[in-house]
Amino acid sequence: MSEPAERAKKLDAVDELAGKRAEFVLDDVVYLDGNSLGALPAVVPGRVEDVVRRQWGELRIRSWEESGWWTAPERIGDRIAPLVGAAPGQIVVGDSTSVNVLKALVGAVRMAGEGRDELLVDATTFPTDGYIAESAARMTGRTLRPVAPADVPGALGDRTAAVLLNHVDYRTGRLHDLPGLTAAVREAGAVAVWDLCHSAGALPVGLDEHGVDLAVGCTYKYLNGGPGSPAYLYVRRELQDRFDSPLPGWNSHAEPFGMRTGYEPAPGALRGRVGTPDILSMLALEAALEVWDGVSVEAVRAKSLALTDFFLECVTAYVPEGRVECVTPVAHEERGSQIALRCDDAGDVMKRLIERGVVGDFRAPDVLRFGFTPLYVGFADVERAARVLAQTLA
Ligand SMILES: Cc1ncc(COP(=O)(O)O)c(C=O)c1O
Repeated sequence: MSEPAERAKKLDAVDELAGKRAEFVLDDVVYLDGNSLGALPAVVPGRVEDVVRRQWGELRIRSWEESGWWTAPERIGDRIAPLVGAAPGQIVVGDSTSVNVLKALVGAVRMAGEGRDELLVDATTFPTDGYIAESAARMTGRTLRPVAPADVPGALGDRTAAVLLNHVDYRTGRLHDLPGLTAAVREAGAVAVWDLCHSAGALPVGLDEHGVDLAVGCTYKYLNGGPGSPAYLYVRRELQDRFDSPLPGWNSHAEPFGMRTGYEPAPGALRGRVGTPDILSMLALEAALEVWDGVSVEAVRAKSLALTDFFLECVTAYVPEGRVECVTPVAHEERGSQIALRCDDAGDVMKRLIERGVVGDFRAPDVLRFGFTPLYVGFADVERAARVLAQTLA
């Protein structure tokens, strides 16, 4: 047995999260794509069957009350809250991340007030955030300025209305300085909006602690909610009265069944709701979140860093020098839960890796992405992935 393989065995033996793997439906594939679509928690199929057969099939309309369908967006928001460091009453679940980016950004600009005419967006952002920021700027009559996250402090000023940033870069896995950047944005009198898609469920976020104003995130990556599971919107408690959503649907009305002509927003985080919630995927997500019972995000972060450190060590040990280049920062404070390797023929290499039972993904033009979900990825998986990568590249 190679030295890394022996070490993997020892690391798995002392891994306090190792038992969690049994709560997922997995086969002998090394699944390193949980940063794109999380694996299926074993509790979900039975719960979805109950929702469909009993709650919908038998109780039908009664389920809006009796099965708690009506309050699911805020109830599940409160279940996500501790995972992102938020007290209850500040998160609603629903719609896609893209839609929530629009709500958050337009809401942020409206909060910032008339005198501020510039919107800053992470120049390296996931594309949907950039497209929507451009539209939000047009809708609100502001100018959009793309800025690299590190340059945000220097770009802030009296003109800045809001800033949209990604906590972890989807391509490189770089973790941005949420506490520092949020403080800088707020000090400039602007509103900070964070996209947590690649951090929630993988590392501590500390929304309340760091004074984040608004945040959005998806639930199908590290939160394992399933394909297209609904996203969430966080609005800091002190700002909720001023949150003026660009999508004021009947579900966020103060009196949704009053059927009034004029819109009056509900109090609190409920203002982030729009229309009828997507109950089937929402309740699948609620079941999926049960795997977090008894798990601390700090333990997840510690294991995530150990996994990514170990992967880099194994890649160094096995892969011929110069064949791949790591584009993920080595410093822990700058690393999310993925490793991105630049490689000449990355698309083809990833296809061959998948054929050999190591599933990551490819991002154009030349990046191999490997996501490490501490709840179900072990150290032996990591060693095998690096070994198969080396064989594939040989
Ligand atoms: C950082 C980031 N933001 C936004 C999105 C888009 O989310 P959705 O397609 O659910 O709207 C993604 C999807 O992967 C993402 O990674």
